[in-house]
Amino acid sequence: MSETDPSPFASTEAYYAAYRPGYGDDVIEYLCERFDLDEAARVLDLGCGAGQITVPIAAHAGEVVGMDPNEAMVREAEKRAAAAGRENVEWIVGSDADLRPELGPFRLTTMGRSFHWMDQEKTLDSLYATTEPGGGVALLGDEEWVTRGTEAWQDDVYALADEYLDDLPERTGPIEYDDPWDELLAAHGFTDVETAVFESEREWTIDGVVGYVFSLSYCSPETFGEEREAFERDLRSRLRERDEEVFTEDVTRTTIAGRK
Ligand SMILES: C[S@@+](CC[C@H](N)C(=O)[O-])C[C@H]1O[C@@H](n2cnc3c(N)ncnc32)[C@H](O)[C@@H]1O
Repeated sequence: MSETDPSPFASTEAYYAAYRPGYGDDVIEYLCERFDLDEAARVLDLGCGAGQITVPIAAHAGEVVGMDPNEAMVREAEKRAAAAGRENVEWIVGSDADLRPELGPFRLTTMGRSFHWMDQEKTLDSLYATTEPGGGVALLGDEEWVTRGTEAWQDDVYALADEYLDDLPERTGPIEYDDPWDELLAAHGFTDVETAVFESEREWTIDGVVGYVFSLSYCSPETFGEEREAFERDLRSRLRERDEEVFTEDVTRTTIAGRK
């Protein structure tokens, strides 16, 4: 993405901060153990968004750098850090294209739901240079549920969004990537590459569902334009019609991590 391109997440930021779930203590603990995070460790969270990784991991490291090209997202992350009392985070408005060796060395670089936005091969080469020996990189993700989920209530959300938006991506359910990122990490010099999978259940309220939808780049408030309020009203009423107390889904959270 060039400096002049608008962020694909423009207008989502407040929703992203409030309604996108974090990855859970189990994932953060796994990374801490795997990469021996301690007070001497520096961590880079690239594509940090609203700080869903940056802030919890800052409790386990000496210094964390949160970096994202969307300035409003970085401001949301700053608020999250302040609310959690984390003072060991430095914020940089910048993208993968701004990675420089002098930013390092880092014990660990995390990229959560962000690697697919980057020039992946170049990013891994840049990160190899900024990673300290024995440190590593970790790609974190969970399935985005509007297009990849399998629940009936999610079908309803998708169907309604599709009535309003021309360019909604297809609802495919879970998909297998052709170009597995574990192989990509290995091809760029990272060893001991391991994929760790964490299963859990999430519950959503109606407010949570609405907020999650508006946190997605392809369902941002901006994409609905003047119809945003009408969509929200219809979405709330369609969810109420389902007469469910909470909306549940099985969630698979994944980390793919390799060592230098
Ligand atoms: C889906 S959000 C993920 C935020 C956070 N890491 C998380 O896990 O919740 C994707 C983030 O990637 C950022 N992003 C987009 N293009 C990027 C790039 N080329 N380099 C770094 N970050 C980028 C976006 O601004 C956005 O904040």
